[in-house]
Amino acid sequence: MNTDHRLLFRDSRCMEILDEDSIELVVTSPPYPMIEMWDATFARMNGKIAGELEARGGWAAYQLMHAELDKVWKEVCRVLKPGGIACINIGDAVRKIGESFFLYPNHARIIHAFTESGLSPLPAVIWRKQTNAPNKFMGSGMLPAGAYVTLEHEYILIFRKGGGRRFKTEQEKLNRHRSAIFWEERNQWFSDIWFDLKGARQQLADEKVRKRSGAYPFELPYRLINMYSVMGDTVLDPFAGMGTSLFAAMAAGRNSVGMEIEEDFYPAVKEKAGQIVNFANTLIRDRLKRHLAFVAERQESGKPFKHVNSHYGFPVVTGQEKQLVLHSLKKVDEPEPGHFTVDYSQPAGSDVPQSRQDENGAKLKNPVQQSLFEI
Ligand SMILES: C[S@@+](CC[C@H](N)C(=O)[O-])C[C@H]1O[C@@H](n2cnc3c(N)ncnc32)[C@H](O)[C@@H]1O
Repeated sequence: MNTDHRLLFRDSRCMEILDEDSIELVVTSPPYPMIEMWDATFARMNGKIAGELEARGGWAAYQLMHAELDKVWKEVCRVLKPGGIACINIGDAVRKIGESFFLYPNHARIIHAFTESGLSPLPAVIWRKQTNAPNKFMGSGMLPAGAYVTLEHEYILIFRKGGGRRFKTEQEKLNRHRSAIFWEERNQWFSDIWFDLKGARQQLADEKVRKRSGAYPFELPYRLINMYSVMGDTVLDPFAGMGTSLFAAMAAGRNSVGMEIEEDFYPAVKEKAGQIVNFANTLIRDRLKRHLAFVAERQESGKPFKHVNSHYGFPVVTGQEKQLVLHSLKKVDEPEPGHFTVDYSQPAGSDVPQSRQDENGAKLKNPVQQSLFEI
């Protein structure tokens, strides 16, 4: 198996290089309107924005900033395949301009833009972040009634183009089953609140670099890609930044395309590409180890398993997980700048003959468990 990844340094307001109906999943986080760190980015997109901020205050500038993002959302809707999904990570903004303190509801404005373009909103995720931000005690502090609630969450908005995706051929159905996630992961990932993802997994980028570039934690696109696409799909990130979505796609066995306006990010992206094989394989091994720990705990509590995974030979809760397989990465090449290709290994345990597998699950003393740690 191999996958293809392209980071294109260009403006995503125009994506004419991508065909209509060509992308299965979009995972992205735009510059946030009315968050100061992104003012200059928006000002470059529309020269009127800086002037509006000065002259007429926030609301007019907010509308102009979203008008620029709308151009990207329109392109996203065009390139998505029917049944394809867009996941947009966005936070609202609070800002005081002159004497006026205001909440700028970015998430609501983006839901409006997508639904106007004909996509269906699906239940969203609230990403609950722990913040030590200095504005935590905004306003009058302990004295009523002029204090403000602290924003400690962001949204992951989810939209679909048309009805549910169909998997028609036997090959498509098998690939869908191979792309399954574990039952216990489903219970956590499909919850509508994700608690701080920071500690959930080690990060690919240094924490300081990540914050400066507005990069999201690796776990965020990695989960979404596993939840809303299958192996071999193409994931698009029109605001690719440090390429986190592209690296998550590599780790998950998907193809990807990223667009990013800042060419300066390339050296950092290239450096991370050199680390992705080890990083992704550790992540995969951790997922398998966590599953084994879950199995042990469940068996100890006397709960039975009815199914066995055919690649690894370990018990799984549902029949949907029987074909689940995680491909570890063998090597990454960069045939031309910003174009990466990834080769994958056969999954550990994939050579286990069917006869060694116990369909009753019972208590597997599994030779495959040993090989998991050799990925
Ligand atoms: C919030 S950051 C995304 C960070 C990314 N998720 C990551 O993990 O690195 C938004 C990115 O969009 C880029 N950007 C802003 N306007 C753009 C445009 N019109 N076309 C392409 N990229 C743009 C910015 O330079 C910035 O890197």
